[in-house]
Amino acid sequence: MAGKINKMNSALIGLQWGDEGKGKLVDNLAGSFDAVCRYQGGANAGHTVIYKGEKLSLHLIPSGIFHQNKLSIIGNGVVIDIVQLIKEIEELKQRGIKINDNLKISKRSHLILPSYFEEEKEMKDKIGTTARAIGPAYSNKILRKGIRMGDINSPDYLSKFNLPPEYLKTLESFRRNYGHMITDTVELLRKMLKDNKKIIFEGAQGVLLDIDFGTYPYVTSSNPTPGGILTGSGIPPNTISTIIGVTKAYTTRVGRGPFPTRMEKETEELIRNTGDEFGATTGRPRNCGWLDLVALKFSSWISGVTEIALTKIDALDKLPEVKIATAYEIDGEKQEYFPSEVWKLEKANPIYKSFPGWNNTKSVKEYNNLPEEAKAYMKFIEDFLEVNIRYISTGRERGDLIRV
Ligand code: IMP
Repeated sequence: MAGKINKMNSALIGLQWGDEGKGKLVDNLAGSFDAVCRYQGGANAGHTVIYKGEKLSLHLIPSGIFHQNKLSIIGNGVVIDIVQLIKEIEELKQRGIKINDNLKISKRSHLILPSYFEEEKEMKDKIGTTARAIGPAYSNKILRKGIRMGDINSPDYLSKFNLPPEYLKTLESFRRNYGHMITDTVELLRKMLKDNKKIIFEGAQGVLLDIDFGTYPYVTSSNPTPGGILTGSGIPPNTISTIIGVTKAYTTRVGRGPFPTRMEKETEELIRNTGDEFGATTGRPRNCGWLDLVALKFSSWISGVTEIALTKIDALDKLPEVKIATAYEIDGEKQEYFPSEVWKLEKANPIYKSFPGWNNTKSVKEYNNLPEEAKAYMKFIEDFLEVNIRYISTGRERGDLIRV
């Protein structure tokens, strides 16, 4: 029995195909928690945070790192590119951000080995991956061929793997400089929950990229859904009380795969530019579309979402009309449920509800100051999903956030 522990922890989950603005939310919310924990994915993530006016992209380190007295934890479910991790630590340090005892990395997290990048090449073209060798890292883990962070403490153990000498040197240098960060994070989290500390779990990617529930095979290789928190951090299932589902006020997608609500070219280009829709990890232009409530109904159900964070509403400013998909038409039939088959989704024609546009939500700080048209748009989303919108992001700055 666990005895008395803190069960009021939170999770922040992307409800779309990633890039929902989770980084900004975590950065804003971290102040109310004692630790931020990543539980899946790897350096394929690009969590953008505006720090002292500068746009910074975090790939592996949790977005709570800018709060000096909070712990940042990389759980066992994350796959680690050690070269990228060193780069990220050094870059943050150069900006005067303290990284020392405030970053902890699970001994059980798997390393992305140099040979995995060769394996990745095929998938980069097929799926449009981020080329971060995420698929090979998870598949080698499942094949039981992987090496884990805790293993870098034993040169004897490593010698069994025929690793390139350069890579061994990198591992050794990491161990020397940052070895103290590698720890048993299951025990760390247990102690924190026992001490009544509060944790927020930071999802990477989104539900529609989940290996089980996403638009397979055009997905990533981990579980961004809350199930991933349990296997990717080792906390008991009954310790999360709040699940914040993050969605943009519209939809974006990078990489290949079906995208039923994609906008026609002209509007897409407009949104891409106003919303700065270019990948934080790869720089790729993101495809843009209208909000898809068929997909969101599914992803918020799977995630057990208790509240919604709606981001980038300001990117829709000044459009004469905004649209929301409420159902699909597939082979002449109306379908309200998100299909599991990618070939069905490829044929889906969205059935839209149209809303009058609005002029200005940019940097609005109070709900009451939002245009009535934007409020009506959000009310429709809440009613459809049967979940309240708790946060509205109105711009890229830290303070551009309404708490409803
Ligand atoms: P992978 O995760 O690099 O294997 O890529 C698989 C798919 O997930 C591709 O379509 C990527 O574009 C997408 N993807 C992975 N990470 C992210 C992310 O953080 N944001 C958006 N898309 C992502």
